[in-house]
Amino acid sequence: MSRRSLSRGRANMLHRGFRILLPLAILLRSTDAVDNGLALTPQMGWNTWNTFACNINEGTIIGAAKALKKLKLDEYGYHYVVMDDCWSLHERNATGYLQYDPAKFPKGIKRLADEIHAMGLGFGMYSSAGKMTCGRYPGSLHFEEKDADLFAEWGVDYLKYDNCFNEGQSGTPLISFERYERMSKALNKTGRPILYSMCNWGEDSPWDWAPTIANSWRMSGDIVNVFDRYDDRCPCEDYICRLPGHHCSIMNIINKAAPLGQKAHTGAWNDLDMLEVGNDNLDYEEQKLHFTIWAMVKSPLIMGHDIMHTSDQTLEILTNKDIIDLSQGKWGVGFRSYKRGKSQLWLQDSKDGSGDMVVAVINNGDQERGLMIDFADIFLDEWDRRKVEYQVTDLWTKEDLGLVKDELKVKVKPHGVFVGRLKFTGDPKMKPKTKKFHGGPDEL
Ligand code: GAL
Repeated sequence: MSRRSLSRGRANMLHRGFRILLPLAILLRSTDAVDNGLALTPQMGWNTWNTFACNINEGTIIGAAKALKKLKLDEYGYHYVVMDDCWSLHERNATGYLQYDPAKFPKGIKRLADEIHAMGLGFGMYSSAGKMTCGRYPGSLHFEEKDADLFAEWGVDYLKYDNCFNEGQSGTPLISFERYERMSKALNKTGRPILYSMCNWGEDSPWDWAPTIANSWRMSGDIVNVFDRYDDRCPCEDYICRLPGHHCSIMNIINKAAPLGQKAHTGAWNDLDMLEVGNDNLDYEEQKLHFTIWAMVKSPLIMGHDIMHTSDQTLEILTNKDIIDLSQGKWGVGFRSYKRGKSQLWLQDSKDGSGDMVVAVINNGDQERGLMIDFADIFLDEWDRRKVEYQVTDLWTKEDLGLVKDELKVKVKPHGVFVGRLKFTGDPKMKPKTKKFHGGPDEL
């Protein structure tokens, strides 16, 4: 069981099947991102790492998939169950293929993937573009085609591809690009559509080169369940960063991500890392703020909490349909209008020509504050802006705030967010231009 090699006959059958399906998927896609037709909206799911780290096995993963189904999270869009690091043996087999750890996965990975598929979910796998994974298991550097073939044969739908032990093959965008492109090509060559989730922590500015080879790219070091804190393990405050590190707080990642939205588009997203919703140490307000901004900037929404013990409050946050809609619906990529002291204004344009908008104010200070959202910070032209009225709905309380013109006054709890959907009440042809409109995903 532990030593295996790819069965040529089956692989060829798979290739033939997907040779028909892949061009179809490519036709259906609306951009030239990674040529796999996937992640047309940011991917959603659950990943083992933040709760279980290396303590994973068949039971953990099937248990998580069953919990996801029982909570009906799949009906909200959470589709992929992603197995992170530490699933393999420490050696490849005699023919150079990766081997799953039979003590952790007695039935094997293919059976595991089959069971997840039978639940209607997608199965995610992990490897690293290095000699070893971060957990020091064999990585895929120089084994890209072999590993991609094996993953396709196992029925993998998603690959998270890390950056540890890359043997110095980083430091310029081109070197990193070529290393990650090899796996992109290998995945596409299998003929199986496999979502490609790059995890190189923002090194060498992946937002400049990943959109043509990957569905998403991490733009920062690893997240931690802390709202706002400087930490030497995550030394950068800015997206230009020589040492991405780990233990990056929610606000640290938000500040680094703010200018990067312009680089995302359909099928190609900035990944702000897995969600900390449902993990210790973040209060209710902080979790809502975190989830709101991740949705607005169209980061993948990959849960990382102990899903088998999901509290009602966690479920309430993760299943807020209006917030999920900011990620999956008609809205462009969110962008920041301003950061002033301890408050920030974030905006999202609708892409359906309606003139609707989403407006969010963050209060990352320690006191509750009354904040005034001045429409001058939203719209370019004063004359235009004076003529418009919006019907406002608070997307967390669901309260209808009535018709609003010129300004909107809101109270925001400490470390909290107000997010409102602004329904344009005028003639859509007359919709005013927002201040920093920058494209984002294709028009619907
Ligand atoms: C890190 C990665 C984490 C997790 C970990 C596994 O590099 O950013 O999300 O995958 O490796 O060892």
